[in-house]
Amino acid sequence: MADHQGRGRPALAGITLGCDYNPEQWSPSVWLEDVALMTVAGIDLVAINIFGWSDLESQPGRYDFDRLDAVIELLHANGIAINLGTATASPPPWLSAQHPEILPVAADGTRRFPGGRQAWCPSSPVYRRHALALVEQVAKRYGRHPGVVLWHVSNELGCHNALCYCDVSAEAFRAWLRQRYGTIAALNSAWGTAFWSQRYHDWAEIQPPRATLSAGNPTQILDFHRFSSDALLDCHQAEAEVLRRHSDAPVTTNFMVTAHIRNLDYWSWAPHVDIVANDHYLDHRLDDPTAELSFAADLTRGLSGGEPWMLMEQAAGAVNWQPYNLAKTPGQMLRNSLTHVARGADSISFFQWRAAPYGAEKFHSALVPHAGTDTVAWREVLHLSAVLKRLREVAGTRVLADTALVFSWPSWWAADGDGRPSEAVRYLDQVHAVYNELRKLGVTVDVVAPGADLSAYRLVAIPCLYAVSDADATRINEYVAGGGHAVVTFFSGIADEKDHIRLGGYPGAFRDMLGISVEEFFPSEPGRTFGLSTGGRAGLWAENLRLTTATALTRYTDGPLPGVPAVTRNTYGDGTGWYIATALDTTTLRDVLRQAVETAWVPATGPEGDGSVEVVRRADGERRYLFAINHGTTTVELPATGHELVDDQPITGTLRVGAGQVRVVREDRAR
Ligand code: GAL
Ligand code: ZN
Repeated sequence: MADHQGRGRPALAGITLGCDYNPEQWSPSVWLEDVALMTVAGIDLVAINIFGWSDLESQPGRYDFDRLDAVIELLHANGIAINLGTATASPPPWLSAQHPEILPVAADGTRRFPGGRQAWCPSSPVYRRHALALVEQVAKRYGRHPGVVLWHVSNELGCHNALCYCDVSAEAFRAWLRQRYGTIAALNSAWGTAFWSQRYHDWAEIQPPRATLSAGNPTQILDFHRFSSDALLDCHQAEAEVLRRHSDAPVTTNFMVTAHIRNLDYWSWAPHVDIVANDHYLDHRLDDPTAELSFAADLTRGLSGGEPWMLMEQAAGAVNWQPYNLAKTPGQMLRNSLTHVARGADSISFFQWRAAPYGAEKFHSALVPHAGTDTVAWREVLHLSAVLKRLREVAGTRVLADTALVFSWPSWWAADGDGRPSEAVRYLDQVHAVYNELRKLGVTVDVVAPGADLSAYRLVAIPCLYAVSDADATRINEYVAGGGHAVVTFFSGIADEKDHIRLGGYPGAFRDMLGISVEEFFPSEPGRTFGLSTGGRAGLWAENLRLTTATALTRYTDGPLPGVPAVTRNTYGDGTGWYIATALDTTTLRDVLRQAVETAWVPATGPEGDGSVEVVRRADGERRYLFAINHGTTTVELPATGHELVDDQPITGTLRVGAGQVRVVREDRAR
């Protein structure tokens, strides 16, 4: 998938180290110090010109490239490769002063002002015209520069401006809907407008899902998400087209595969970048930020079709945009980086090189902190750099996984919509719950799209796949019938891609495969739990499930449905469908997943535990590497034989991984 444009990847060897660099914030004397320090730190790749627009174009059509020229020459002369931004992420103040119509509009009809960043409507032709004129200049000027090895389109497209409800966006939404549905009758049927007197008779009557008094139309909202993701992808495509006319360097943009951003359906974006790149920040608002990092890395690898990918941004220490911005503990930055590498990244980059003394991100960490280089942070950077150099030979290998997990942005949008049975059931929580227990079992997971070819997997996890098309459901059911094993969790297979409920008993898409039929949901208040006949507890959700061909593995002993099955197992064709009808406590969930893992003969990559020890393998036809990352507080021993690369020492049978340490073993070939 990654090489579909035929441009390949940036011409860089090994596992590269990089960063965002904002020389426009500093004087040329600091640049010299920066480049000298970058050389010391072994920085391979530097992203520049991400927010350069107001610097490059002081008034419409008046460009000044002197400063950028100088920075590019300086980096290139010092052997540092350039990841060149198109500078369109944040328009200069003059553009919105002259054209306030480019400013985005929120669902309540209020405009957002400039003064932050990304204050532009993704559908604005005025923004587009000015942005592409700039990209044309940048691409023409630097497209053949030998130092420019990668293009960085905009920055985190849709981070702040994903959903714009202005009149221009409304018109673009209508055009998108005409394309999707062809006739107004088809739209009426898809949107279920017979409900609440919403039938449209003319395209002009259709609005984006602006703020309403009561709940809005769920399919209108779902389609607006799809439209908005496509509108931003179109912005990417428009810039990429210009870049590809002037340059042979690969083109990418930084995705945001992370827990707090959900507006872009990256399955549809991934085929359009030459290499998949992601930004990831540990989110301390989550129960297990480290496990979420692993999940995001596995999903990013999925987007890359299993090919190596780039971590475009992470923080060296704290960020500045969470309620409490935790500093990283000693070794944590190295462990986080190595988790990304273990899970398929061949490039580790940071936001940002030097901590700024001013601006909205003045408290955001950097490779060079406010305190300078006589610091713990800087020594950790040097150490990371040394480790990555020792892992050079790992580059290009692929992660080994026998288990897949199906992930869907439209299911996220639809399952978390208004008017659902329980607002305490959230898509990503349910995905993380299953993923985290598989991770504790030592099972490496490939995250795949609905509709993906599952034939290579022994086991497929399907958490909360609420909205699923007939075609994608058939793919899953046929995989099981052909001998596969699927674990499906509650609130999956409920609706189709239009968010219309599948009738005849839940979960309509998977009822036969699972051998069950459900008449009614019994969500319960968060905090309330019910007992299970096999021990353990459940909560949040129950269903009055009837067995058709499945057998019950455990039943409720109390709660709303005593005696009713909570977990089932069904033989379907040559395979097995497991169903988890409630939110199990983590131990019980892991027990069920363990049974599935064992039945499906999934080989664990690492030991079972509390998730504090991650073991992942990367391999190619000839070599195999074991990554062991110990986030815990005690030393662990793992069976391994080969050569350890971080400490450069032979391993004969037992690998010791101290508390907080990382180890990478080139394993001797299996006999
Ligand atoms: C990213 C962004 C960077 C910087 C960083 C701070 O979202 O691309 O420019 O703002 O977050 O964590
Ligand atoms: Zn708009």
